Order: sequence, then C-alpha cells, then structure tokens
Amino acid sequence: MGWVRRSPVIKKVRFRTRLADTMLTIALSKGKMLDLTLDLFRRAGYALGSLSIESRRLVFPCPEIGMTFLIVRPTDVPTYVEYGAADVGIVGKDVLMERDSDVYEPLDLGVGACRIAVAALKGQTSRDRLSSKIRVATKYPKITERYFNQRGMSVEIVKLYGSIELAPLVGLADRIVDLVETGSTLKAHDLVEVECIAQSTARLVVNRASLKLKHAVVTELIKKLRVVTSAPARYRTAAPRMSSRGARRTVRRSRI
Ligand code: PRP
Repeated sequence: MGWVRRSPVIKKVRFRTRLADTMLTIALSKGKMLDLTLDLFRRAGYALGSLSIESRRLVFPCPEIGMTFLIVRPTDVPTYVEYGAADVGIVGKDVLMERDSDVYEPLDLGVGACRIAVAALKGQTSRDRLSSKIRVATKYPKITERYFNQRGMSVEIVKLYGSIELAPLVGLADRIVDLVETGSTLKAHDLVEVECIAQSTARLVVNRASLKLKHAVVTELIKKLRVVTSAPARYRTAAPRMSSRGARRTVRRSRI
C-alpha cells in the first residue's frame, strides 16, 4: 500500500478539537460573591478584560486566557456545571448542600464565608413556648428538613425566595433558616441566632466529563486558584476527586 496524504479537512477538525479541549467555560455566581471571585481570578494571573460587576452582560468571552465566563444566579451554577453547559463553576457551599448536584468539588476558595443558621425573634428562642410542630421559613427547604429530621423534630417548611427575616415579624413562621454573614440583618429585625447548621464558603466545582476531557486546563486553573486562596489544608487535594454529594457538613448540636 502506498503513502496516503492526510486530508486537510481531518487536520482542521483535529486542530479544532484540540482547541476546544483547552477552552474553559466558567459559570460565576452573580451577587455578593462575584466581586470576590473576580478578585481571586485576577490575583491568580488571569486578565479578565471587560468583565466587571457593573455590566448587564451575561457572557464574557476572554479568548486571550482561553476562558468564557457566564454570569448566572448562584442557585443555577450547579445545574450549568452538572449538564456541561459550563466546565467549571464558582458557588457557595450552601447552594451545593441544598442542590446535592453531581459535580466534583475540588477546592474551597475560602472567600464569601458565612453560615447557615436557625434564627428566632428575641424572647422566643425557647422551644417550650412553641407548639409541637413549628413553622420554619427558608430558601433552603432541603437543608432545613434534613436538619430538623435529624433532631427528630417535625416542622412545617415555608419556602421563600428572599427577605426571609420578615417571616417571624409578621407571624408567618416561628423560625427561619437563612445565611448569616455579619449578623446585621438579623439584628435589624430583632432576631437572634439560635443554632448554626453549617459553615459555607465559595467552592470551585467541575463537570465530571470536563475533568477528563480538559484535564490539563482544569488542573492548571485549580493549581493557580489554590495558590491565591486561604483554603484549609484538608481541601487542598492533589487531584479533584471529591463530589459535593456526601461531602462533610458541619452540623452542631441543636439548642432548639
Ligand atoms: C443574605 C441572607 C441575609 C443576609 C445576611 O441575603 O439571606 O438576609 O444576606 O447578611 P448579614 O448577616 O451580613 O446581614 P441577600 O442579601 O443575599 O438577599 P436575600 O434576602 O434577598 O436573599
């Protein structure tokens, strides 16, 4: 058999595939965490060009660093990553605990630290004063249900989408389960923290297929971000293997 010249079409396709393997699509959580995340990327040496928190744009291609950024609601980040619409995502542990998505969670970025807590109106923190089934308002129904179930407590959960602190003030709920960062929103509404359910920080999550197909670029990103984060040593794994599902949670003893 003689020498066969390789088709230029095939060559082109192979080149494109190689290029696609080195491009990363990254879903960033909009809101409070966005500025902190952009700062981390910049400190890790990534030039983000026109990407800023002021912009209304949702897609930011940055070809010079081989990345495209998507700006999405925090609760949607795991969905983008799980379905492969994004290779990588940055999202709070609170969202991962609530969503229980099938994604790798290789790195604790250490920023955006807050806690998921149970709170009540001042003077109404004692369980004795409550009826047998308490009503809890929250945007985290799964975390709330798991938490109270583990304590053998029957609760009625009222799902809200924001301004959770309002619920006890107007008699909608006996308790709330919400994020507490500085505690000033609780204080401003005469609420006190009764119990901390879990600590939360921003996490880097990776799509399972992308981890294999784009291993080199994903690993490089993790390496660079790890250098600039204050992540606790236990999260500094050599390779991204840990799934958010079943990841350890910090659950303290209930005082309710
Ligand atoms: C979050 C959370 C609390 C507040 C806590 O709300 O739900 O309301 O931040 O922060 P603090 O302890 O520093 O006061 P967010 O601003 O995300 O808005 P939301 O209430 O609409 O969810």
